[in-house]
Amino acid sequence: MQALPGFRDFLPADCAARNYIFARWREVARRYGFVEWDGPVLEPTELYRKKSGDEIVGQLFNFTDKGEREVALRPELTPTLARIIAAHEREFKKPLKWFSIGSCFRYEKQQRGRLREHIQLNCDILGEPSIEADAELIAVSIDVLREFGFTVDDFVVRVNDRDIWVAFLDGHMVPREECSKFLNIIDKIDRVGEEEIRRRIEVFEREFDVIIPWLAVKDMLETPVKGAKDVSNRLVILFEKLSARGMGDFIQLDCSLVRGLAYYTSTVFELFDRRGKLRAVAGGGRYDNLIEQLSDGAAKLSAVGFAMGDVVLGELIRDRPAARQKMETAVRDESKIDIYVVIAKEERRPDAIAEIQKLRDRGYRVDYSLTPAKVGKQFQTAEDLGATIAVLYGDEWPQVKVKTLATREEQLIRPEELLAYLTRSS
Ligand code: HAM
Repeated sequence: MQALPGFRDFLPADCAARNYIFARWREVARRYGFVEWDGPVLEPTELYRKKSGDEIVGQLFNFTDKGEREVALRPELTPTLARIIAAHEREFKKPLKWFSIGSCFRYEKQQRGRLREHIQLNCDILGEPSIEADAELIAVSIDVLREFGFTVDDFVVRVNDRDIWVAFLDGHMVPREECSKFLNIIDKIDRVGEEEIRRRIEVFEREFDVIIPWLAVKDMLETPVKGAKDVSNRLVILFEKLSARGMGDFIQLDCSLVRGLAYYTSTVFELFDRRGKLRAVAGGGRYDNLIEQLSDGAAKLSAVGFAMGDVVLGELIRDRPAARQKMETAVRDESKIDIYVVIAKEERRPDAIAEIQKLRDRGYRVDYSLTPAKVGKQFQTAEDLGATIAVLYGDEWPQVKVKTLATREEQLIRPEELLAYLTRSS
């Protein structure tokens, strides 16, 4: 029987690659002062109906549980975070810098870079309305990718501010509450092409009795600042702040970027493969109203964050030789053992196992053959497992032979000297 479509089995090599990704994620998040949090994978369906937006609600893995509750596997972590923060806000000094690593589930059509279960790194700053928080978040997202060995030639951060479009629509007399319909049209601009967007804008215009010239929309994409001076100033400051961190080359203004999730309020950004082959590796933005909405006004806290998925990231790593080699070396080193104990004479097995336990108690990674095997085969296993040394229990007893596998050097010592020998040679 196979795993369900869009779900993955993790064989040891896949787990090692996944652990490599998690370790880099944690390392960089902590370097920026983020602390880890977690939440449940199952939530009330209502949590997503309220604010995530139609696209994600349409992709929910949801069902009625045995207690007649409407529940859903989380498609993202942001609503859970907002729910937790709304309940515990008073317990913490602001701003909060929180990160989480967790599985998300979306009933999407399985395709390159898109599965039904993926793992996200989420980094969010809560309770900091200033643009400094937006800059800090974009910076951490850039540094996460740099940590995997990617450079400015590999990826770009496309940045926009949704308020640019709100100002544009205000200028065309579109009622505020209808803006999200228009933003949904713009969100698809990359995927469906100019003809289809024109058609959708026409429908929108007919529905709302306004005229939005396509030329103006195109103009917005090329010279976006018209009619949105404050917003442009905010973006200019954001770009300056990132340039001051030496990250100016990584960022690019892209007015067609509005993001599919409904809760974003101003800054939005996505990290893309610069060679344009893959879908977004990460995406995020500012969501200043979500916590207030989820707490029915009880907690009011500005927020900005992003999430990076392991699926697209994994593909990007495999696509770039430098990043792939970095991962393969780290995974190989991580899976190596320190010592392989070769039992050449079965009557020495009890002595060998007693010593193996002592070595393991000291934190060494030690392995041996569980059943009798030819000496040559045991040495081959030692090589395969990447052991640094092999310790042979055989004819030399009451001494053991220690062999450094890289240099083939051999030395006879007494078993009780083994720990001191290892400490000396490490
Ligand atoms: P999102 O853009 O929906 O944002 O997802 C973030 C990333 O998760 C994507 O860029 C992509 O790498 C990965 N991803 C999403 N769906 C799939 C899928 N079906 N298969 C594989 N990978 C996928 C959010 O989830 C927001 N909650 C991010 C956020 C955090 N905003 C503020 N804080």
